[in-house]
Amino acid sequence: MTDASRMVSGKKRAEDRVDAAMRPTRLNEMTGQDRLVENLRILIEAAKGRHEPLDHVLLYGPPGLGKTTFAHVIANEMEVNIRITAGPSIERAGDLAAILTHLREGDVLFIDEIHRLGRAVEEVLYPAMEDFALDIVIGKGPSAKNVRLNLPRFTVIGATTRLALLTAPLRARFGAVYRLDFYSIEAMHDIVVRAAGLLNVPIDVDGTHEIARRARGTPRVALRLLKRVRDYAEVRADGEITEQVAGEALDLLEIDLLGLDDIDRRVLHAIIEKFDGGPVGLETIAASISEEPDTIMDVYEPYLLQLGFLERTPRGRTATRRAYEHLKIKRPQRQEPLF
Ligand SMILES: Nc1ncnc2c1ncn2[C@@H]1O[C@H](COP(=O)(O)OP(=O)(O)OP(=O)(O)O)[C@@H](O)[C@H]1O
Ligand SMILES: [Mg+2]
Repeated sequence: MTDASRMVSGKKRAEDRVDAAMRPTRLNEMTGQDRLVENLRILIEAAKGRHEPLDHVLLYGPPGLGKTTFAHVIANEMEVNIRITAGPSIERAGDLAAILTHLREGDVLFIDEIHRLGRAVEEVLYPAMEDFALDIVIGKGPSAKNVRLNLPRFTVIGATTRLALLTAPLRARFGAVYRLDFYSIEAMHDIVVRAAGLLNVPIDVDGTHEIARRARGTPRVALRLLKRVRDYAEVRADGEITEQVAGEALDLLEIDLLGLDDIDRRVLHAIIEKFDGGPVGLETIAASISEEPDTIMDVYEPYLLQLGFLERTPRGRTATRRAYEHLKIKRPQRQEPLF
């Protein structure tokens, strides 16, 4: 999901402004992702020491873990401008050429959903990333000439939820490739505390813990749950978020103790009840619960895999023993095949 697609219209809602204010801007404000932060510190300090632009950086991982945030943070730390675009919004090679020729030395070009760049656009990007050059054709027919324009040395930061969909030549042009993982419970705790502070919401330790553990290791989810629990606390309680208030609010939102929501549970129930626990293909699961396969793959599966509730096999997805236990469904005894 891009920021653009989350915006309902051109106008930013009040809530979006709050989100922007809560977005960390420097590396030392980032909670969790310790290894990534450490690697970025070295990358940035080395580039600054040599007075060079940063090498191209690719960030990948499930939605809501901070790819866009890190891109902004990197540009801030490098003290350069950031130009933001997304794979699907660069339709023609000329669109990318226009963006590239407007960059200044050292600038960051952030390309969100970079796996969705068109082929012709990608081909313009290759020499731009490798040689800081733009090859253009002037004129038509036999008199057409190839001209190479020099570009300022800039940095591409690409973000994707689907590393596998990136073409090999594009991937090869990134000097630094980092995966974002789900956050630890401690990091989620700190993120909730920080956000509650910024929102001025009274919350106690147990209330914090209740939100942190149900936020599926994802800062975006933590912030969303915090806002909904705040609503509940203000309307149904005295405004303070305690364990009980958070628990009631999250139960009402049908978010269980591990952070699974209705769709997670429908995915698991479908595999278990309609397809005997699997293996079953992603498309089939998606069709049976009327969801998009891409949404299930990007948003739901990574966390279910992380919990060990799902397994991906060459023949499809299988529900594990843990999934049965969590949903309190008795697992049929499987006959081992004789041959
Ligand atoms: N390490 C962090 N500490 C505190 N807040 C964070 C952190 N990482 C992300 N956030 C917050 O979580 C929210 C989601 O982060 P972000 O938009 O960067 O995710 P993303 O990986 O780009 O997601 P998508 O794949 O959907 O584009 C933001 O509002 C951001 O403020
Ligand atoms: Mg993003």
